[in-house]
Amino acid sequence: MTDAKIKELISTLSLEEKAGQLLQVSGLLYDDDALVTGTMDYFKITEDEKKIAGSVLSVSGAEKLKKLQDKLMSEQPHHIPNVFMLDIINGYETIYQVPLGQGATFNPELTEKLAEVAAKEGAAAGIHCTFSPMCDLVRDARWGRVMESTGEDPYLNGLMGAAMVRGYQGDDIKAKGRLASCVKHFAGYGGAEAGRDYDTVELSERTLRESYLPAYKEAIDAGAKLVMTSFNTLNQIPSSGNKWLLKDVLRNEMGFDGMVISDYGAVKEMVNHGIAKDDTAAGELAINAGVDMDMMSFCYIRGLLELVAEGKVSEELIDESVYRVLKLKDELGLFENPYKDASEEDEKKLILCDEHRALAKQSAVESFILLENKENVLPLSEESGSIAFIGPFVDSHKVYGSWTFPKDEKTMVTIRQGIEGLNPKNNCTFSQGCQFFTKNVKCKNGERLEYDILKAPAMLEEAINAAKKADTVVMCLGEYHQQTGEAASRTEIRIPKGQMKLLKKINEVNKNIITLIFTGRPLELEEVSELSKAVMVTWYPGVETGNAIADVLFGKQEPGGRVPMSFPYTVGQEPCYYNRFRSGRPNNGTLDQGFVMGYIDQIDKMLYPFGYGKTYTEFSYSPVTLSADKLTGNAPIKASVTLKNVGERPGTETVQLYVQDLYGSVVRPKKQLKGFEKVTLNPGEEKVVTFEITEDMFRFYDINMNFTSEPGDCRVFVGPDSETENCAYFTLEA
Ligand code: BGC
Repeated sequence: MTDAKIKELISTLSLEEKAGQLLQVSGLLYDDDALVTGTMDYFKITEDEKKIAGSVLSVSGAEKLKKLQDKLMSEQPHHIPNVFMLDIINGYETIYQVPLGQGATFNPELTEKLAEVAAKEGAAAGIHCTFSPMCDLVRDARWGRVMESTGEDPYLNGLMGAAMVRGYQGDDIKAKGRLASCVKHFAGYGGAEAGRDYDTVELSERTLRESYLPAYKEAIDAGAKLVMTSFNTLNQIPSSGNKWLLKDVLRNEMGFDGMVISDYGAVKEMVNHGIAKDDTAAGELAINAGVDMDMMSFCYIRGLLELVAEGKVSEELIDESVYRVLKLKDELGLFENPYKDASEEDEKKLILCDEHRALAKQSAVESFILLENKENVLPLSEESGSIAFIGPFVDSHKVYGSWTFPKDEKTMVTIRQGIEGLNPKNNCTFSQGCQFFTKNVKCKNGERLEYDILKAPAMLEEAINAAKKADTVVMCLGEYHQQTGEAASRTEIRIPKGQMKLLKKINEVNKNIITLIFTGRPLELEEVSELSKAVMVTWYPGVETGNAIADVLFGKQEPGGRVPMSFPYTVGQEPCYYNRFRSGRPNNGTLDQGFVMGYIDQIDKMLYPFGYGKTYTEFSYSPVTLSADKLTGNAPIKASVTLKNVGERPGTETVQLYVQDLYGSVVRPKKQLKGFEKVTLNPGEEKVVTFEITEDMFRFYDINMNFTSEPGDCRVFVGPDSETENCAYFTLEA
């Protein structure tokens, strides 16, 4: 449709219908079979509201959505198609590893392919838009939603966010198999105080701009069609009512011209924040601040008419928002083809097809982080002898994270199935050893895990006997998937107690332990490392869990991940991230210093810093050499190292480039990631790895809030992780 046609259509709509276009409603409220009780009942949605809502979220399935579209279009007075949205954050039915695990791959191309697969399946299932990527910068592992982010680094997050947008949307969201992408949560949601979900965010404008906004911006520049506001207050203003954030920053500075949607109920929540006296006032704040669509709080549909009548909101402003909603529908091609790609046939063909599963497996392998490998116990071989696989994850299908809802959990290949499928010559046994928890647990999604006290002793005994008889033990431990994600912040970031007890008991009878860690966040792993010879973080790997783990354990493939979010020694170190500012009392990382920045009971280091990860081989780095010792704006220089595989197996190293501005008009971070390259080398092989160093890598918000670089001395580091000291100095000239 031309713009003129969209505007013509808007001119024929009643104000009620316009308000309807700005309403998004949960699909549960349309599901005649669903028992609409509890939180849903609370909304008291009317039949009229249902008929004119512009968008529905959280339903899927081609048949269902085609029917729903027919019904809604027949009831909508102008037969305007509905737009269907869903959270597809790590795959639709071919579920791959959680986003934090995608961050660990340091492989944006792979992430783009994964998003493409998710889009194909989601589109076949009738979805038009996914609420992804989440570009929130995360620095505090207590926050449950760190799992949905790609980590603590603005540069990596930006690359990943943009890759996801390209993967979902392609060049044209109308094209078959494409979804519109919604960047969230704008802005600063990851900065919640002490990692408490939905809590206050206080960030200086400099930190907001320098660290938090860039990843959203990259995803927006990649063409994302929607942006979602965040639940939090940012410097005392809830995002859904923050005109400066949504208009000055998002629209004017970042140039975003797509649709802004609130987060679920976030408009109404401004009443709880105490910034609006009632729902109508909340709606007034949100629409005037720039929120186009109200997700599930009914403030627009129930308040806009009155607000227009009172002159508090102009109808022109409403028209602008309606325009953006209709424009999105038009770009998706819904006016010509309201089902878009919904097709039962394609669902059968695409969902969980071999090609999609193969990619899920590949990406899982690339996301596993080998944290420890003492005496090279990994990879396993015939010499590893008999192997006992022990732990609650051995037979568990709960390996898909907390934002995916597989129709059939059995599509997840368990560890046991993966190992049996690989069929190694080693004699393998499998036992659970313990349950996920040592008490009854009610999960946030209503699921109940009953702890069976009677079964516990026999489970433990079976595992101890298996460990006694085995030459090698593989412990499969971690957080239950519902301990992560939204509304799952924790004050402890440990493996559940019962599982730790199991590890200790097993260690008493067998010291040859390899521990796999299932998690959606960095955990305290010092004790686990002491009790194990090898430790590998596997995140929640998704449908190909067992197959990917079997391949990596037995050395058919190498674990490819690097830490995307620092692992602290203790939770007391949170927030914990590598690119901190320099202190006036620097800490040298030991405990025998006085009056220095840090703690008296914990060294100022991370257990596993950002960027860290081992391989099955070893690499050496030469010192960094520079092509020149001066850098000017228009003449970049090159920094090189010679990387050599000095081990005995082929392997892939993630060579990382960090920069540091030694003196600035404001304090600069110790280091900032500005590039990386994955390099695969055979034993004995070497390669010169070169990065171009450009002036823009040194830009920041100076003392006058100008985004610029300042002439002076700088450093560039090239090494295996964020703690590398392999560096060279040069001068940045004006
Ligand atoms: C979450 C969003 C999500 C939305 C829709 C909210 O609770 O914060 O990330 O996209 O629900 O499901």
